[in-house]
Amino acid sequence: MLQHEKSQRKLLLGADGREKMRAAGKFNARLMDTVRQHVRDGVTTAELDQVVHQFTIDHGHTPATLGYLGFPKSCCTSINDVICHGIPDDTQLRDGDIVNIDLTSVVDGWHGDQSETFIVGGASEEAVAVTQAAFDCMHLAISAIRPGSVVSEIGDAIVAEAHARGFSVVREYVGHGLGKSFHQPPNIPHFPDRKSKQQRLLPGMCFTIEPMINAGTRFTRLDKQDGWTVRTRDTRLSAQFEHSILMTEDGPEILTLTEDGPQRGHKF
Ligand code: MF3
Ligand code: CO
Ligand code: CO
Repeated sequence: MLQHEKSQRKLLLGADGREKMRAAGKFNARLMDTVRQHVRDGVTTAELDQVVHQFTIDHGHTPATLGYLGFPKSCCTSINDVICHGIPDDTQLRDGDIVNIDLTSVVDGWHGDQSETFIVGGASEEAVAVTQAAFDCMHLAISAIRPGSVVSEIGDAIVAEAHARGFSVVREYVGHGLGKSFHQPPNIPHFPDRKSKQQRLLPGMCFTIEPMINAGTRFTRLDKQDGWTVRTRDTRLSAQFEHSILMTEDGPEILTLTEDGPQRGHKF
C-alpha cells in the first residue's frame, strides 16, 4: 500500500465518527440560526461574536477560532471587500453592507464549520449578484460530486459558474478536510489544480466547500496590521458560503443545513 493511501485511510470515518460529525454540524447550524436573529443595521460585529461565544459555551461546546493560531475571537466577520478572516470589532453593520459570518465549533472533540453571507437591508445589484453567485457556486459544487469523484470537479464547477457571471474565484484560501482537526487533508481548492485532479472523495471523508467569489479580480491583500483580515486587492466586493460535507456511499450529505437560512435554489 502506498504511503498516501495509508494516511488517507485515517480520513475515512466509520459509523461512530460520522455520527460525531453529524452532531457537530447540527449544533453549528443551530448556532448560525441563532446569530441570524441578530444581524441587522447598527449591530456591531463584536456583539455578534458575543452571541456566538455565549451560545457555544452555554451548550458546553468550544468556539474553534478562539485562540486558533492566535485568532482573538469566536467567529470571523467579513464585510464588503473583506474576503475572509475579518476580526469582530466595534464596526457597526450598515444598510447596504454584505457580511460573511463564519462559525466553527468543537462538539465533543469534532468540528462543524460553515459560513453565510448576509445582505443587510437593501444592497446594490452587484452586492446581491456576488452573494447569489457564491451561494450558487457552493451548491453547484456539492451537486457535482459523487463518491469517487476527484476533488478538481469542485473547482471545475465553481470556476465555470463564477466566470460565466463575470466574477472571479479566490485561490489563496481553500476548503479543507474536517474532523477532530479544524484543518486536515484533503485540501479543497475552488479552482482545479494538479493535486486536486489526483485526489478522490471517498465515502467517510468530511470536508468543507467554501468558495470566495470576487466581483472584480481574484487577487487578495492580507492586512499587515492585524495579520488576519484578507481583502480584495481592487477593493471591490467579495462573498462566500461554506458547508461541512460528509461523503457517503450514496453521495454528499450536508452536515450544516440550517432551519431558517437560505436553502439550495434560494434567490437573494
Ligand atoms: N472558519 C474558517 C474556515 O472556514 C477558518 C477561520 S480560521 C481563523 O476554514 F483563525 F481565522 F478564525
Ligand atoms: Co472552513
Ligand atoms: Co469556516
